[in-house]
Amino acid sequence: MSDTITSSTIRALPESIGLNTSSLFIFLATCGGVALLLTQFGGSVSEGTAAQQTLRDPIPGLYNTLQFMFNNYKFMTRVQAALQRSRAGVLRFSLGPKAVYLVAGQQNIRTVFSRDLVHDITNQEQMTRYALPTLYKMNASEVRRWEADRSGVTKTPISGTEDVPSRQRLWYNYEHIYAEYLGRPQYMRPLIELYNQNLDRLLDLYPWGNGTLVNTLFGPRLVELSPDFVDRLWAFDEQVFQLVMGLPKWLNAKPAKAHDAYVSAIERWLGDVSAGFDWKAAEADWEPRFGGRAVRELYRWMKETDWRDEVIAATLGALAFALKSNSIPTTTWMLMEIIRDPSLLRAVREEVATATETDPATGKPILDNQKLVALPLLQSICTETLRLRINFNIMRDVKQPVVLDNGATTVAPGSLLQMPMMVAHYDEAAWGAAGHPASEFWAERHIRYVDEPEAAGRVRKFAMAGHPTAWFPFGGGANVCPGRQLAKYEIFTTIATIVSRFDLEVVAWTKADGSTSPRAAESDLRYCGGGPCPQIGT
Ligand code: HEM
Repeated sequence: MSDTITSSTIRALPESIGLNTSSLFIFLATCGGVALLLTQFGGSVSEGTAAQQTLRDPIPGLYNTLQFMFNNYKFMTRVQAALQRSRAGVLRFSLGPKAVYLVAGQQNIRTVFSRDLVHDITNQEQMTRYALPTLYKMNASEVRRWEADRSGVTKTPISGTEDVPSRQRLWYNYEHIYAEYLGRPQYMRPLIELYNQNLDRLLDLYPWGNGTLVNTLFGPRLVELSPDFVDRLWAFDEQVFQLVMGLPKWLNAKPAKAHDAYVSAIERWLGDVSAGFDWKAAEADWEPRFGGRAVRELYRWMKETDWRDEVIAATLGALAFALKSNSIPTTTWMLMEIIRDPSLLRAVREEVATATETDPATGKPILDNQKLVALPLLQSICTETLRLRINFNIMRDVKQPVVLDNGATTVAPGSLLQMPMMVAHYDEAAWGAAGHPASEFWAERHIRYVDEPEAAGRVRKFAMAGHPTAWFPFGGGANVCPGRQLAKYEIFTTIATIVSRFDLEVVAWTKADGSTSPRAAESDLRYCGGGPCPQIGT
């Protein structure tokens, strides 16, 4: 091992694993609520069936809404308790004028994410109302194009819309391009190999080097043209919440400014790499101009369907943001948990060594990616970290009546469904074990020891401790995160490379400004419902 990393230097790792991160999908939670309040007062409240359970509202129409928006952690703690008391799986409350159904429990979660209801429960209204006009920079007539596409998200168009030309099926193409080109092993493989090489090169330079791993998916030219691109990305990241609230620029100029600076760098890069691009050579899984196939295909489709360059750049900006905004905090939390426990660090190193080979050409150690992502202890640590630290309130719009809770609740069209991760991921009944409550990180929670005849002793196996429907850090159904496999490779590679290349020890916990903190980092609960909980030390 060549270098020493202390906990206080963790923030200097590639991409400056600074953790002031909110999330692309925060609009689906709190700011959605704010925007609803700002734009919709006076709208109708949908009614459910009489048997439904309702969350008590101490100041009717106001308290729940305000607590949901401004102290989502406390709100969800109340929801947890109310669900437990009532033994219901669905709880209704009003968010401004909108009826929201909080959904929990195996059967309900399975129903909501099921393929059978893919056209009845969608994220389309969330997109057209909040994301497209802000993050994607679409004007009113552009948003109307999405609203007008009623052909659905599946390969087979909804009955009656078969005459929509296939490339004009906006929802379908958008989801399909991501699912195909981010998720298929063929397209992921070059990204993973390149990521390994880039990470290796960056760590060779540590602590003097400077670089970014964005170029794995976007190719090197983006950062060559805008060397401050990563700074622009984090500046944008800080403003996402405010941006999606959609306040006019004259009231709050900062979010739009950060977004403009970020998107303009991408637009400039797109102009550069598309000029004279040989589209016949576009079948390559990775090429240096556009980088990964997902980026190129999205650009090609959006050009073909006549989107403005700024809109295309903003759409790719949302992708770059999605690429980084969850993986980096997850990696950092995992590293912290591993480093703070010397026996766990030792066990992880031993496990990583079983997935490491020596490159016959260079004599350098190389990781076998397939073996790496199957390592039981690392899988358990990752599952546990995602369970505890990823905290989205996944939202969906109801288009047709949906029956939940074994028929006890019928949710009317126009309502919102919300699947809060906090309720499922912290459920004691699902995850608790003797001496290890659900609220606590336990590296071995998802490990079973089994006897194997050929092995010298008992062998570790990965087995998720709870039911899979109680764990959905990547969302679910048609909109499930298309980058989830890529994220796993990235995260595991980063952890494996760092633990095997550096001497690591906890020297002191620090605050964001670098000064010493008397306690270990904790989740910043202000981000509850908005995605990854960043660390705070006070
Ligand atoms: C720990 C890492 C990650 C977590 C926890 C995560 C989580 C999520 C979640 C919760 C959603 C919304 C799903 C839903 O509504 O059901 C999402 C969407 C998305 N994620 Fe990830 N993600 C991660 C990494 C990545 C990576 C590495 C990429 C790669 C580029 C990516 C790309 C996307 C995209 C493009 C969407 C939007 C899909 C759409 O609009 O339908 N994510 N992610």
